[in-house]
Amino acid sequence: MSDPVEISGPAVAEAVESALAAVRAASSIAELKAARSVHAGEHSLLARMNASMRTVPPAEKAAAGKLIGQARATVAEAIAAREAGLAEDEERMRLASEAVDVTALPSRWNSGARHPLSLLQETVADIFVAMGWEIAEGPELEHEWFNFDALNFDEDHPARAMQDTLFVEPADRHLLLRTHTSPVQVRSLLDRPLPLYVIAPGRVYRSDELDATHTPVFTQVEGIAIDRGLTMAHLRGTLEHFARQMFGQQAQIRLRPNYFPFTEPSAEMDVWQPNAKGGARWVEWGGCGMVNPNVLRSAGIDPAEYQGFAFGMGIERTVQFRHEIADMRDFVEGDIRFSQQFGMVV
Ligand code: PHE
Repeated sequence: MSDPVEISGPAVAEAVESALAAVRAASSIAELKAARSVHAGEHSLLARMNASMRTVPPAEKAAAGKLIGQARATVAEAIAAREAGLAEDEERMRLASEAVDVTALPSRWNSGARHPLSLLQETVADIFVAMGWEIAEGPELEHEWFNFDALNFDEDHPARAMQDTLFVEPADRHLLLRTHTSPVQVRSLLDRPLPLYVIAPGRVYRSDELDATHTPVFTQVEGIAIDRGLTMAHLRGTLEHFARQMFGQQAQIRLRPNYFPFTEPSAEMDVWQPNAKGGARWVEWGGCGMVNPNVLRSAGIDPAEYQGFAFGMGIERTVQFRHEIADMRDFVEGDIRFSQQFGMVV
């Protein structure tokens, strides 16, 4: 127990005065806590005076008790009031420092965004990889043989001209910018063991003008499956699954007879989009068919043993249908604001 201290009117008044001065001087909650411990804590002068009450003669006890009691209450009140004031100040400062100026100019630094065509190619690849397919790639500068001959295009077949081919000089090297991803069918047939389930996304080129509905460079995804006993039903089922992954569970597909030299029978594939913004509609999505036996033969495969199907569609069109993009030029102009709408998938 500490030594008794003097209890007198002036001594108590002085203790209160110095306590109040310290409370006033505290300019933060932390400083106030320190002042409280010095002037109102258990070792403070007022606490020690209180403890010294035992030494006060009985006749003076009541007056001394009242004096000290009032003094301690005064100090406690001053601390509480100061604490409330400081807390309010600190809150005001915090809010001011966190305030957002909604009129401020944005930073000029633009974070990048991946291009929607890259993102969709990866999504398509994931859908097929999940079914056990593999991804194949082929060169964009292709030999005419892979792009046309091996795909059963006749030397003078109009289809060869139909595709607006960009040939690369010198002509006697027979190089061209591939007009479709179908040459990857042939490369896969030559390179890979059977059975074979391969998807080939990539850029293709045709000598089109750039306008709202055409671009001379665009992206396709080709699929080819070769196995024993594959039929048109497998093709249909695969495409329907793919369409539903792309456009929602209610998407339907429709096949219309068509001609491609490398498939027989061949079909144009439409997809039914019940939830399209402008109302439900059929849209042309790609081509497909059963791989022509001549294509299998040119890769050294016996069509009596192995059959298969192939399909190909435009990635740009697919993104357009998914996001109602009206103008093809948005894909090639490289405006970051276009890419950013598709989310920051890293
Ligand atoms: N290669 C065709 C085109 O570009 C699409 C297609 C691919 C058709 C595979 C049938 C099979 O138009």
